[in-house]
Amino acid sequence: MKILMTVSEAVPFAKTGGLADAVSSLSIALANLGNEVKIIMPRYWRIDRTKLTPLEGEMGVKMGGVEEWCQVYKTAMPGASKNNPIEVFFIDHEIFFGRDGLYSNAFNEDYIDNPRRFTFFSRSVFQVCNKINWHPDIIHAHDWPTALVPVYLKYGLREGLFANTKSILTIHNLGYQGIYHKDNFHYTGLGWNVFYGGGFDDWGMMNMLKAGIYAADRLNTVSETYCEETKTQTHGFRLDGPLRYRSADYCGILNGIDDKVWNPAADKLIPKPYSTADMSGKLLAKETLQKHFGLETNPKIPVIGMVTRLTGQKGVGELFGPSYGSAFSICSDMALQFVLIGTGEMWCEQEVNALSGRLPNFKVKIGYSEEIGHLIEAGSDLFLMPSRYEPCGLNQMYSLSYGTLPIVRRTGGLVDTVQNYDQKTGKGTGFMFDDLTPQAIYNTVGWAIWTYYNKPEDILKMQKRGMKQDFSWTLSAKKYMDMYAAS
Ligand code: ADP
Ligand code: GLC
Repeated sequence: MKILMTVSEAVPFAKTGGLADAVSSLSIALANLGNEVKIIMPRYWRIDRTKLTPLEGEMGVKMGGVEEWCQVYKTAMPGASKNNPIEVFFIDHEIFFGRDGLYSNAFNEDYIDNPRRFTFFSRSVFQVCNKINWHPDIIHAHDWPTALVPVYLKYGLREGLFANTKSILTIHNLGYQGIYHKDNFHYTGLGWNVFYGGGFDDWGMMNMLKAGIYAADRLNTVSETYCEETKTQTHGFRLDGPLRYRSADYCGILNGIDDKVWNPAADKLIPKPYSTADMSGKLLAKETLQKHFGLETNPKIPVIGMVTRLTGQKGVGELFGPSYGSAFSICSDMALQFVLIGTGEMWCEQEVNALSGRLPNFKVKIGYSEEIGHLIEAGSDLFLMPSRYEPCGLNQMYSLSYGTLPIVRRTGGLVDTVQNYDQKTGKGTGFMFDDLTPQAIYNTVGWAIWTYYNKPEDILKMQKRGMKQDFSWTLSAKKYMDMYAAS
């Protein structure tokens, strides 16, 4: 099959979260199954043009009344098989994408021209296909930034060489929908009948994800549990109705992980590889981690790690807020060390920084670093994810593969990947709680720490059980192919 991924971020080129990992590793898995896969994404400022190959000629994209001009570049996706390489195309429009932040920066929570930027991008992908004379069977959009791709296909572009092209929309996070003032709608060049009849209208605003949900031939999200949750009022972010309406065409497919990148036996970013047969590399990673963060290097003290966006979705309000039971109480009351790397909401960055000044066993790095992310996954004993909601979550799967036991809230993809510890039988792969309250987090961390000190044999068995679990894309990529075939 010919599959075109249209996306706003993909590793190793640009990443703000799991979307970038998921799209690249899914693409590689699909190519390994014999499909012809190409990816189109914006060229942001950090993506060095000089390392890319320009396509000849400029490309004009119609945006309502005007035409925007851009350049197209391409390169090969690293990590894809040499026998079936993946071409990655970049839309280079300096004014729209020549920025450091993908969707925002320190001064703009959400760039004011985001609807215009991503409408332009969604429209441009069809022209790239014409330019390279390659027309896919499946055009696969991800989240609100490319949700207009299925809309364009449904309203006007499913003709000529796109006559047999089908569209898929994957929802990675319902919390971000691309809701903007409807003045922006004219950039789409679509008629107002599409605004009202195609699902854009959201109480007078323009909702890009909602329009994509109405237009796509098939829809999915990134775990089975989250798929069910999104059809409820609690987790549906006001789109539970449209998702229930589309439920015959809507399913959950769990993300896989790229086991070339996230594999303790082959990881180049940790001091020494390790596996269930020889765990000594994990101990060395722990020592390196403790040294890196200026903590006492003591193998006996349990280390809790976090690698996360510091936003409400990740439960940081409950974890780092002022209530009793929050991280301050955890670190004051328990014999443990806590390390965190993250960026996000300013209040939270300031709070965790202040906390690290007050607590000798709580260390923080505000920033983004793949190296430290890998070191925390490998060197920690426990990994905390008290998510408010979690469509899939990749970090808990990375943790399990690295023998680092996840402490997670029972929600979304965390339910589908972590098995709660049963003290009677010793079974399980992590520790789970239900209520998102500081007390529940405190008690569950306490339970994990107690188990660490008092049931080391259970901990070791759980570690090995997690490390043996198969989180590769093999199964899930086949499920995507079934969805493509059914569309
Ligand atoms: P989400 O996409 O909601 O942020 P996921 O668990 O799916 O959550 O994916 C997060 C990805 O981003 C993981 O690969 C994680 O390691 C990475 N990540 C998040 N914040 C940082 C950071 N500050 N430094 C390094 N990696 C990070
Ligand atoms: C989103 C979700 C996360 C998921 C990722 C990749 O960012 O928040 O749970 O793992 O997308 O699908």
